[in-house]
Amino acid sequence: MVKGIERFSLEGKCALVTGGAKGIGRAIGEAMSAAGASVIVADMDLREAEKTAAALGGSAIALEVTDAKAVEAAVAGLEALDTLINNAGIVHNGPSTEIDIAAWERVIDVNLSGVFRTARAFGRAMVARGKGSVISTSSICGQVPVWPQPQAAYNAAKAGVNLVTKSLAVEWARSGVRVNAVAPGYTATELTLAGRSKPEWYNVWLDRTPMGRLADPD
Ligand SMILES: NC(=O)c1ccc[n+]([C@@H]2O[C@H](COP(=O)([O-])OP(=O)(O)OC[C@H]3O[C@@H](n4cnc5c(N)ncnc54)[C@H](O)[C@@H]3O)[C@@H](O)[C@H]2O)c1
Repeated sequence: MVKGIERFSLEGKCALVTGGAKGIGRAIGEAMSAAGASVIVADMDLREAEKTAAALGGSAIALEVTDAKAVEAAVAGLEALDTLINNAGIVHNGPSTEIDIAAWERVIDVNLSGVFRTARAFGRAMVARGKGSVISTSSICGQVPVWPQPQAAYNAAKAGVNLVTKSLAVEWARSGVRVNAVAPGYTATELTLAGRSKPEWYNVWLDRTPMGRLADPD
C-alpha cells in the first residue's frame, strides 16, 4: 500500500540546525518543527537563537562552528541527533587581488571547515548508532562562480562542501548514515542584503534568474 503524508512526519526525531537563528536556517527549523521534530537552534548569536527557538517551540544553544571544542562540547551535552543541518555560513565580497587573506581564511573556516567539523563530531555518534542524516546548505556558487560580485573564497568553500558531502556520503553509506546537500540560488536573507542594495549587482542577479526574483527562505 502506498503510504500517505505521514511518511513526511518527523515526529520523535531530534534535529539540530547550525546558523538556525535567522534566514534559511530559521526557515528549515520552522519546517522541521511543524513536521513534528524537536529542533535545536544552534547559532553563534545566542540571543537570536533563543528568540527563534521560542517561536518554533524548540531549544537553543550557542554554537560557533569554527570552535572545535565548542562543537565537541555540544555533542557531549546533547542527546543523539537524527538530523544535523549544517547551515551556518557567511559571505565576503572583495577582488581577489586585494582581499585580506584573513577574510579568505574566515570564510573557508566557517563555510567549509565548519561543515566538516560539525558533521564529523555529530556524525561519529550517528555512525555508531547505524542511522542519521546530515544535510548541508551548499549554494549554486559551489558549481559555477556567480557574477558580478567577486567572492572567490565563498565559491571555493561551497565547491568544497559539495565534495565533502559526497565524500562523507560514500564513507558513511554502509553505516546507514545519509549525507546530502541542498544548493539554493539567491535568497532574500540578511546575507544578500548588501548585494540587494547595489543595483549594479542586484539587477544582474534578477536578470540571470529565470523567475526574475529571489527565493524566499521558506
Ligand atoms: N541567502 C542566499 O542567497 C544563499 C544562497 C545559497 C546558499 N546560502 C547559504 O545558506 C546558509 C544560510 O545563509 P542565510 O542566507 O540564511 O544567512 P543569514 O546571514 O540570514 O543567517 C546566517 C546565520 O548563521 C549564523 N552564523 C554565521 N556564522 C556562524 C558561525 N561561525 N557559527 C555559528 N553560526 C553562524 C548567523 O548568526 C545567522 O543566524 C549559508 O550557508 C549560506 O551560505 C545562502
